[in-house]
Amino acid sequence: MTTDPYAKIAAIYDVEFRSANADTIGYESRRQGQRVLVLGCGTGRVCRGLHAGEVVGLDLSEPMLEVARAQGRPVERYVAASMTSFDLGAFDEVIIPNGAFAFLPDRAARAACLAACRAALSAGGPLTIDVPMPDHARQGEAHLPELPAWEGEVEGRHVWRTRETFRDPVAQRLRLLDRYRDETGWTAQSELVLHTFSVDEVHWMLEANGFYADRMWGDHTGGPLRPGCPRLLVRALPL
Ligand SMILES: C[S@@+](CC[C@H](N)C(=O)[O-])C[C@H]1O[C@@H](n2cnc3c(N)ncnc32)[C@H](O)[C@@H]1O
Repeated sequence: MTTDPYAKIAAIYDVEFRSANADTIGYESRRQGQRVLVLGCGTGRVCRGLHAGEVVGLDLSEPMLEVARAQGRPVERYVAASMTSFDLGAFDEVIIPNGAFAFLPDRAARAACLAACRAALSAGGPLTIDVPMPDHARQGEAHLPELPAWEGEVEGRHVWRTRETFRDPVAQRLRLLDRYRDETGWTAQSELVLHTFSVDEVHWMLEANGFYADRMWGDHTGGPLRPGCPRLLVRALPL
């Protein structure tokens, strides 16, 4: 049995998130240099939106990478590996988009990832990490029942997704149980377990691992961190 939460739903993920490009527009507008590494690249959505000379996407999930490769441009290359252990040479910039860094389960995994990023950024370029800002207004709600979350057309099928949410604010853990269905009766389940970060924790984590937070934003349009902001987006530079 696979533990890859994306194994059965890679093509659906791609359709659902294909047009969510506000983050990619920001990454491209701030892009520094021609060699960009995207960690937790998934189906390559962010890679495809970067107009760099070389874009390398790395992900653990082969099914996600298959979808990425099928749409890849000549400047893109996709590598199956964990972001906690890689050596792909030097890059001008590293990006970890759309919550991928929050999948790392513990401090050791986060430190290993940051050490590998630090080595890849020997020329001093930026590391950008995008994780969800915890929903502070709902921290007391340990469980949210299954609710409709998305629906769309995937390869000629009408597919819909619901989400059940479990929060553990003490462990800083968010467990999302996504259920997919289509009209033929097909079903799939995807369990996502994410670490939720505080702003101060991000500063400490970076400083303990060879980086400092140069800029932080609360959304992908360049808005500040503020109560209710959806993202914790940080551009880190090597110390
Ligand atoms: C929410 S998806 C984001 C995909 C893509 N970045 C995007 O923006 O559409 C999270 C991705 O992180 C990947 N991932 C989780 N843990 C990983 C790890 N240790 N190393 C590499 N990729 C990982 C998953 O396989 C998944 O593709």
